[in-house]
Amino acid sequence: MRNLLNPLSHFADMTDRALKVGIVGYGHLGQFLVEKIQKEGPEAGLQLAFVWNRNADKFRDSLPKELILHDLSDFTCRDTDVIVEVCHPMIVKEFGVRFLSHAHFMVGSPSALSDPQLEQDLRTAAKQHGKTLYVPSGALWGGQDIQKMNDSGTLQALSVRMSKHPSCFRLTGGLLSDWREGEGRRVLYHGSVAELCPIAPNNVNTMAAAAIAASKLGFNGVTGEIVSDTALSDYHIVEIEVTGPDGFTVKTVRQNPAKLGAVTGNATYNSFWSSLLVCKGHGGRVYLC
Ligand SMILES: NC(=O)c1ccc[n+]([C@@H]2O[C@H](COP(=O)([O-])OP(=O)(O)OC[C@H]3O[C@@H](n4cnc5c(N)ncnc54)[C@H](O)[C@@H]3O)[C@@H](O)[C@H]2O)c1
Repeated sequence: MRNLLNPLSHFADMTDRALKVGIVGYGHLGQFLVEKIQKEGPEAGLQLAFVWNRNADKFRDSLPKELILHDLSDFTCRDTDVIVEVCHPMIVKEFGVRFLSHAHFMVGSPSALSDPQLEQDLRTAAKQHGKTLYVPSGALWGGQDIQKMNDSGTLQALSVRMSKHPSCFRLTGGLLSDWREGEGRRVLYHGSVAELCPIAPNNVNTMAAAAIAASKLGFNGVTGEIVSDTALSDYHIVEIEVTGPDGFTVKTVRQNPAKLGAVTGNATYNSFWSSLLVCKGHGGRVYLC
């Protein structure tokens, strides 16, 4: 068993060939990963295979032209070991299965997997093609502990609350369109993560990762709550409560500094990088990293 808590331990057994990485999405996370691979890739054993963004103007000469993929359907023409989606669950739905027929796939927007058919299709494609579907833990703290309890049958309940400044939410249906600075705290939703994912596809990937770790509870059995709070102009908060047998409980509070209006907290960038480092050397299953 590899030490997933310390991805650097993988340097010892990295193969001599660099892992070729395709980045899909060039927003905050995409730009961070591209820059990091450009700077630290040679030492870490990673190199860019391609970068795609729906609007290529965003690259503004920041990348060598040969790395830019203009039509995402052309990803099959690039020699790629792992494709990292960091844009939107829609892309997971449209391309996820196709990605897995050619490469390992790290799904940065796992809220897409709240669609049970899509989750099943991705699992089947991974198995069929001997590829791995990687689910980065992102802002989820203690994911592997949750997974262990799940696998041993001792996980009884799991709830995740995410609180952010209202400008950090991207909600469908205009749920928060009337917010005003200084209004304070507002519980926007409390219920199953399955129902929440379509309402807040960009904001609850942490909960989706939790539901994947807690696969026996699943998206329907894990409870999610999102809270808008105008006092949170500098950070996001993720609170997790795990319940096991005989009064066992774990509660964690993760306070992640974040820019105003950002869907991604600062520490989550490095968490994604660590997850990418873990990609070297696994194959054929679903992996929380
Ligand atoms: N797994 C996690 O814990 C975690 C943590 C943070 C962010 N995320 C997710 O990762 C993704 C990227 O985050 P980010 O901070 O870089 O966001 P961002 O808003 O900075 O960038 C998103 C990029 O995707 C593009 N995009 C948006 N909708 C699209 C669509 N329908 N089709 C194609 N491209 C589209 C945008 O133009 C932009 O370039 C988001 O889905 C976000 O929810 C996951």
